[in-house]
Amino acid sequence: MAKRVILAYSGGLDTSVIVRWLVEKGFEVITYTADVGQGEELEEIPEKARSAGAVEAVVEDLREEFARDYCMPTMRALALYEGKYPLSAALSRPLISKKLVHHAHKFKADYVAHGSTGKGNDQVRFELSVWALDPDIEVLAPVREWEFKSREEEIEYARKFNIPVKATKEKPYSIDSNLWGISIECGPLEDPWQEPPEDAFEITTSPREAPDTPQYVEIEFDKGTPVAVNGERFSSIHRLVETLNRLGARHGIGRIDMVENRLVGIKSREIYEAPGATILYEAYRDLLSLTTDRFSFHYFMSHIPHEYAKMVYEGLWFSPLREALDSFNEKLAENATGKVRLRLYKGSVAVVGRESERSLYVEDLATYSPQDSFDHVAGMHFTKVYGLPLRVLGRVRKKFR
Ligand code: ARG
Repeated sequence: MAKRVILAYSGGLDTSVIVRWLVEKGFEVITYTADVGQGEELEEIPEKARSAGAVEAVVEDLREEFARDYCMPTMRALALYEGKYPLSAALSRPLISKKLVHHAHKFKADYVAHGSTGKGNDQVRFELSVWALDPDIEVLAPVREWEFKSREEEIEYARKFNIPVKATKEKPYSIDSNLWGISIECGPLEDPWQEPPEDAFEITTSPREAPDTPQYVEIEFDKGTPVAVNGERFSSIHRLVETLNRLGARHGIGRIDMVENRLVGIKSREIYEAPGATILYEAYRDLLSLTTDRFSFHYFMSHIPHEYAKMVYEGLWFSPLREALDSFNEKLAENATGKVRLRLYKGSVAVVGRESERSLYVEDLATYSPQDSFDHVAGMHFTKVYGLPLRVLGRVRKKFR
């Protein structure tokens, strides 16, 4: 019986060559392609896969599952890798891995395969996710071990086996795209001093070219989930994110340029475009600060965003720790119902207003007007007691000066 493998298939040159390469190695290949909002037509995928040698090609729309079960928890964690990257590529890997495992079981395959290289993060994410879900499945990564040293050699191989190769001139960039954002690397971006050329960006308008008048957006949240934009209600989260991507992209929002630490030890220069995620993070952070008590909010801010981002980036999605942090974040999200108003303008997004039926902001306590109901005498006593340790220290210091 032939060895059977489920291959994560994008339809690009690498994964098409992988199909044939695996067939030549004696595998029966079933391709798996997910729509995670990468914005590409997937209709031709099955035909492409078959002409490369696959016996079966599965294509699935995962946009809502991706948005609901991966992007939203990450937003609720306000997780940004190294304070900047909203983890778009990193988030799609565990979901795709889960589906690879599902189909491996369904088609009785002992192997799954992916097209990641040996120096990136994605190999780690795929493999750890698969092993966490089924440790008996073997993961193959042909790109790490095959003989091709260049794109030209791959094209030559593809031609030899009549695998259709797109004739269009390729951009010099390596791009990974989904609903939550676009990652762009390689080509001129490999020089970290060089400003990203305009043609590196896929969806955002240059802030320079963006409209000269600001646009206001109102986002409504229900228990930590965005449900409406400018009064229009969405029952589908991925549609709402798409809408924010469009609005944000028009105003040049969500461009990120950074040098980041990869898991394998190297630093790499990456740029990202994540207009929708950028807007949602700003909005959610603000709502959370309005509806969360000080103790919980400070605990959250100092313990969650960085830890959560590291876990997602480092391939630990299917870990009990991630689930436990989700429970914590969901607890805080129970109060995150309300509205945030933001201003989009030439690459910047600013929260300009917020309201919630569960708001902890009490105007009578905050005001400096005659309506003030704060007990100022209590403030005096509080300050005296709170400041006692430093006052005592001050006395001792003075003695020894
Ligand atoms: N550096 C990002 C990450 O590790 C993006 C990698 C995605 N791949 C790409 N071809 N840009 O999550």
